[in-house]
Amino acid sequence: MKDIITLSVESSCDETSIAILKNGREVLTNIVSTQIDLHKKFGGVVPEVASRKHIENIDGVLQEALDEAKIELKDIDHIAVTYGPGLVGALLVGLSYAKSLAFCLNKPLVGVNHIEGHVSANYIAHKDLKPPFITLIVSGGHTHLVEVKDYGKYEILGRTRDDASGEAFDKIARAMGLGYPGGPIVDKLAKQGNKNAIDFPRAYLDEGYDFSFSGLKSAVLNYLNAKKMKKEEIVVEDVCASFQEAVVEVLSQKAIKAAKEKGYNTIALAGGVACNSALREKITELGKENNIDIKYPPVDLCTDNAAMIGCAGYYNYINGIIDDMSLNAVPNLKI
Ligand code: KG4
Ligand code: ZN
Repeated sequence: MKDIITLSVESSCDETSIAILKNGREVLTNIVSTQIDLHKKFGGVVPEVASRKHIENIDGVLQEALDEAKIELKDIDHIAVTYGPGLVGALLVGLSYAKSLAFCLNKPLVGVNHIEGHVSANYIAHKDLKPPFITLIVSGGHTHLVEVKDYGKYEILGRTRDDASGEAFDKIARAMGLGYPGGPIVDKLAKQGNKNAIDFPRAYLDEGYDFSFSGLKSAVLNYLNAKKMKKEEIVVEDVCASFQEAVVEVLSQKAIKAAKEKGYNTIALAGGVACNSALREKITELGKENNIDIKYPPVDLCTDNAAMIGCAGYYNYINGIIDDMSLNAVPNLKI
């Protein structure tokens, strides 16, 4: 059978990325141009700045991808692109670029849901992984517990009712002046702290599958304020470790509970927070106790990248799910 070559574009937030894949799971190149340094001084992503930077970057990123994969545009079978969720201006840059490519090359255009992309990163990392399984999607914008019934077929079991887990990491890091993005910094500092030092609240919401992180975030902010008022020393490492433990405990326990109750023996982690070392450790430990196989992608496939979008787009493509030039950006697209 002829190989299928996918070219994919991702620009939903602060990474401009283009990847080229062979048969959906083999990554020939995955170029990611990150804008993190640009947004650091603002303590978060500034949408207008992100859109402008995507425009500046995208041509160079495509050229680098083609050079690295040693592929010519004429060899590409279809174009996959993130059309939501994300920042509308940022999404429109990648989407317009992908549409222009598809139009000029006369190749099919396949729109991809960014959240589906995160899940699909696991197909690249684990060649034998096939649906069905449970996925825990934890990123800067999303926290979802989902049954993956088939490629492209999902049933949401639970989601966050307020802040996303990554957002909570970013916000408490910001409150302590640790920089942006907060997740990796908190993860690192937590290694030197005591996770039992401060008893922060865990929200189990009556043991359903939904999550809530705003109460925990407020508890951390209140703790920091009270310490400052009393002019007491704040042990940042302990705050990071105790906060992280509260997040990781709830995420892991709910994911394991979902797998057991729904009868699955595999959980795949997805999204930026799936980089978190304590989450990986805790859920792997609980997985062992419960005979549940825990999978997660390597760090560079957990955070935003176009390879994961290409993989999700490939499955749409082979299943005949193709879009046309009327495809528009949908900032609040749901899975
Ligand atoms: O998936 P992602 O790159 O972008 C979204 O689609 O949101 O996720 C970014 C999020 C940020 O909130 C970042 O702080 C978090 O992932 N993150 C982490 C770690 N690495 C990235 N959170 C906790 N621990 C980490 N090691
Ligand atoms: Zn993402």
